[in-house]
Amino acid sequence: MVKYFAVPKELKAGETRVSLTPDVIGMLPKEERGVLVEKDAGLLAGFTNEEYEKAGAEIVSTPEELWERATYVLKIKEPQVEEYKFFNSKHVLLGYLHLDNEKQLAEELIKRKVCSVSLETIHTKNGERPILSPMSQVAGRIAIQAGAKFLERTMGGSGILLGGVPGVSAGKVVIIGGGTVGLNAARVAHGMGADVSVLDVNHKKLAKIDLAFNGGVKTFYSNPMTIAREAKDADILIGAVYVQGKMPKLVTADVVKQMKKGSVVMDVAIDQGGVIETIDRITTHENPVYEKYGVLHYAVPNVPSTVPKTASLAFSYAMFPYLHQICEEGIIAAIKKNEVLATGVSTFNGMVTSEKLADILDKEHTELSMIVGF
Ligand SMILES: NC(=O)c1ccc[n+]([C@@H]2O[C@H](COP(=O)([O-])OP(=O)(O)OC[C@H]3O[C@@H](n4cnc5c(N)ncnc54)[C@H](O)[C@@H]3O)[C@@H](O)[C@H]2O)c1
Repeated sequence: MVKYFAVPKELKAGETRVSLTPDVIGMLPKEERGVLVEKDAGLLAGFTNEEYEKAGAEIVSTPEELWERATYVLKIKEPQVEEYKFFNSKHVLLGYLHLDNEKQLAEELIKRKVCSVSLETIHTKNGERPILSPMSQVAGRIAIQAGAKFLERTMGGSGILLGGVPGVSAGKVVIIGGGTVGLNAARVAHGMGADVSVLDVNHKKLAKIDLAFNGGVKTFYSNPMTIAREAKDADILIGAVYVQGKMPKLVTADVVKQMKKGSVVMDVAIDQGGVIETIDRITTHENPVYEKYGVLHYAVPNVPSTVPKTASLAFSYAMFPYLHQICEEGIIAAIKKNEVLATGVSTFNGMVTSEKLADILDKEHTELSMIVGF
């Protein structure tokens, strides 16, 4: 029987990306496999139904039919509540699911025995996260582009030009977390001529940034004292931290209250719960900022959907080797052979295979190896 890979339209507020681009569909093995694409799923990212058909996909008019016929469902963002009813035990759901922060979704996946793969948690032995990384690259670069815009007086900011001009100092950018988001934000901020500081607890990350910019970006060990000191005169402060499980509120309300009026705090890590204490709500691309203590707060959980064409292509290319393997071997064999892919499996046949998630949900943890036997 043909197993279908399905590409639903993304339903999260402000989401414009699509999980598979026509060129990547064209590169997947065709025997015994088909690709279903929901009608107009790629339009906002610049990919037409005709392009998908040319690449060999079948366009499906309704989400009901798509989920019904699918075995593998490939999403960018987590399914929304109205999609939960489609879940069933034959589904393998792959996407940035953020289950640590999406308890209701996690409970539904367990109840309906879906095999779920949380792409943001897929990691290699040396800590790289190959599927999150392209979106983090986009988000880091966009954060500076957007932050610079919010500093403009007409946008509610302090009226500072990030790069300064000869004779007038540049703005200051403080980035908490020197991983992929942090490095890419630093690249654009440094390129614009800003005064940039990156704080991290991992010495290797700080050393990498120091070398990448030949010392042109300052690096500091991250702790409450250095964060407070660097934040005080920042024009843009970016939360770019990742920890599995509950996120620490590293930038406290007291720190934000000390910041300059019209400065901007941006919690790129908001999709994981965020690290800035004064961010008490997520924002959207339509209304990206709100003001609190005189500081603009930006907390958009899907930053890359401002540039869906670049982001969808980058996502699809990162997914390609995994999808190719799943296409050829099926999910069980792929998980057994590919230990990197296996790190993303969160739930399987009603069991919780992610230790962190089991802890958060207060449920029993089952080792994936015990279920699929590796
Ligand atoms: N909003 C969006 O659209 C979007 C897009 C991509 C990524 N993200 C989020 O951005 C965050 C960063 O992603 P990434 O790919 O750069 O992760 P990463 O793992 O590459 O980097 C995270 C960094 O945080 C550092 N860190 C951990 N604890 C810290 C602390 N106490 N102080 C300072 N640094 C600390 C780690 O050492 C690491 O270098 C994640 O939460 C991710 O989910 C959001």
